[in-house]
Amino acid sequence: MATDNVAPDEGNNPGGVDKKRRRLLTQGVGVVGAAGAAAMVIPFISSMSPSARAKAAGAPVEVDISKLEPGQRVIVEWRGKPVWVLKRTPALLEGLKAVEGNLRDIESDDSDQPEYAKNDYRSIKPEILVMVGICTHLGCSPSYRPEVAPVDLGDDWQGGFFCPCHGSRFDISGRVYKGVPAPTNLEVPPHQYMAGDTRILIGVDGGRA
Ligand code: FES
Repeated sequence: MATDNVAPDEGNNPGGVDKKRRRLLTQGVGVVGAAGAAAMVIPFISSMSPSARAKAAGAPVEVDISKLEPGQRVIVEWRGKPVWVLKRTPALLEGLKAVEGNLRDIESDDSDQPEYAKNDYRSIKPEILVMVGICTHLGCSPSYRPEVAPVDLGDDWQGGFFCPCHGSRFDISGRVYKGVPAPTNLEVPPHQYMAGDTRILIGVDGGRA
C-alpha cells in the first residue's frame, strides 16, 4: 500500500514551487511503492495452483483508513488496478459545486459506479473517495492535484485529478471535464465499510444497491 499527502492549499502559497516539486517527488514515491508491493505479491501468486491464483487475483482488498489524514491518499492494488482511497477535506468538498458547469457527466449517468456512489461525492461517505486510478481515455494514471487555482491548471481549478498523457481533467469526485479526451468519469469500484468504519473492503459490497 502506498501513501501520499499533499497540502490542499499549496497552490496559493508563495513558496509553491518548492512544495510542488516535493509533491511530485512524493507522488513518485507512491507509484514506486505500489509497484514494489505488486512485485512482492506476484511471486507469491505465481506459486499457487491455477484456481487459487485466479481467486487471489480477484480477491477483495481490505484497507485500514483509521490513520488517514484529511487530504491524504493511499493507493492499493485490486485486480491489477491501482485503487485510490482519499480522505477529502471540507474545502475540497466545497469546491465540487463551483466546477459543476465545467463537467460533462455531472450526474454520472454515463459512467461506471455502484448505485450507492451515484451522487455528487461519488462515494458512500462524502469525505472518503474510493476510485480506480485509471484514466477513462487510454488508461494512464491521473495525478492527484488538490491545489486551488495552480498556475498550470488555471483559476477555475478547485482540486481534482489531471491526466498528463492527453490532458484530461477530473474534479475531486473523479467527474470528467468537458472538452477533454476522457469520455466518462473515473470508475468507482464496489466497496463497503466494515465494522467500526475504519476499514474498507474493496471488491465486494454484499450486493448493496
Ligand atoms: S490517457 Fe488520460 S487523457 Fe489520454
